Amino acid sequence: MSIDDAIKKITELFDKHKVFFGHGTDNAADEATDLVFFILNIDFTSTQNFNDRIILEDEWKAINKLSSLRIETRKPLPYLTNQAYFCHEKFYVDERVLIPRSPIAEIIQNHFNPWLDESMIKTILEIGTGSGCIAIAMAKYFENSLITATDVSDAALEVAKINVKHFLFEKQIKLIQSDLFDNIQGKYNLIVSNPPYVPREVMKNLPQEYSFEPTKALLAGDNGLDFIARILHDAPLFLEEDGILVIEAGVASKEMEREFKLPFKWIDFEFGGEGVALIEAKHLK
Ligand SMILES: C[S@@+](CC[C@H](N)C(=O)[O-])C[C@H]1O[C@@H](n2cnc3c(N)ncnc32)[C@H](O)[C@@H]1O
Repeated sequence: MSIDDAIKKITELFDKHKVFFGHGTDNAADEATDLVFFILNIDFTSTQNFNDRIILEDEWKAINKLSSLRIETRKPLPYLTNQAYFCHEKFYVDERVLIPRSPIAEIIQNHFNPWLDESMIKTILEIGTGSGCIAIAMAKYFENSLITATDVSDAALEVAKINVKHFLFEKQIKLIQSDLFDNIQGKYNLIVSNPPYVPREVMKNLPQEYSFEPTKALLAGDNGLDFIARILHDAPLFLEEDGILVIEAGVASKEMEREFKLPFKWIDFEFGGEGVALIEAKHLK
């Protein structure tokens, strides 16, 4: 069997069993490709041509076993494979952290262009780092920056530490346990955060896949603004005069606009995603 045939068969299975996608992929074919590539040990970022590759019997058995597990347990694929892609890099993930999928990836890859002058970014604070994917991607794209990445969850920070070490960013990224800004000092050119923003009622009705992710990474009170409100309130104390806050508000975006009436600039994404706003320090004061 060819790789294409295997991907087609798994895609059909996922569709038939109405698997939910949203943890790194948004459709059956992409998720089937991830699964088949994982078993065949093909790196997603590889440029090799695999058209002639034939799938062996044992490999097909392993592909079927993993797809059955995905369908029966409803566990997101990255938790079954312990890997997730973000900004073209492969990260270690497990159930201690949210599966990387923030559209902030695209802004980082564009060097925050046209939103800010890259040369001004020397110090960056990331709040709620989870797997460390955003902090690590920023370290790669802003090689002259110093990054502080925080999380309230010690368990999440253990995963971030694995990734920071793997990518050799121990000198550029400092990991700190902190409830938002509690243990933070100094001023930053840029603060980035993808905080929890799911309102309680929305949380109750999410597909089963989300139940495997840490509640702490998703749930944000009745209107989704529990953490966003605190970040908007305290950020000016930690931003340089010309500093910038980039905040993901996702499903709570409309509520954030209604509640705070600030001049948010909403970012358009070429490769999907929405709900990320940018705001200058001077407008937060
Ligand atoms: C939506 S996840 C984002 C994870 C990662 N930055 C990403 O984009 O994949 C939110 C993260 O914020 C952390 N968090 C929740 N409450 C927090 C708080 N009070 N202070 C700092 N981090 C918090 C969670 O543990 C989780 O890792």
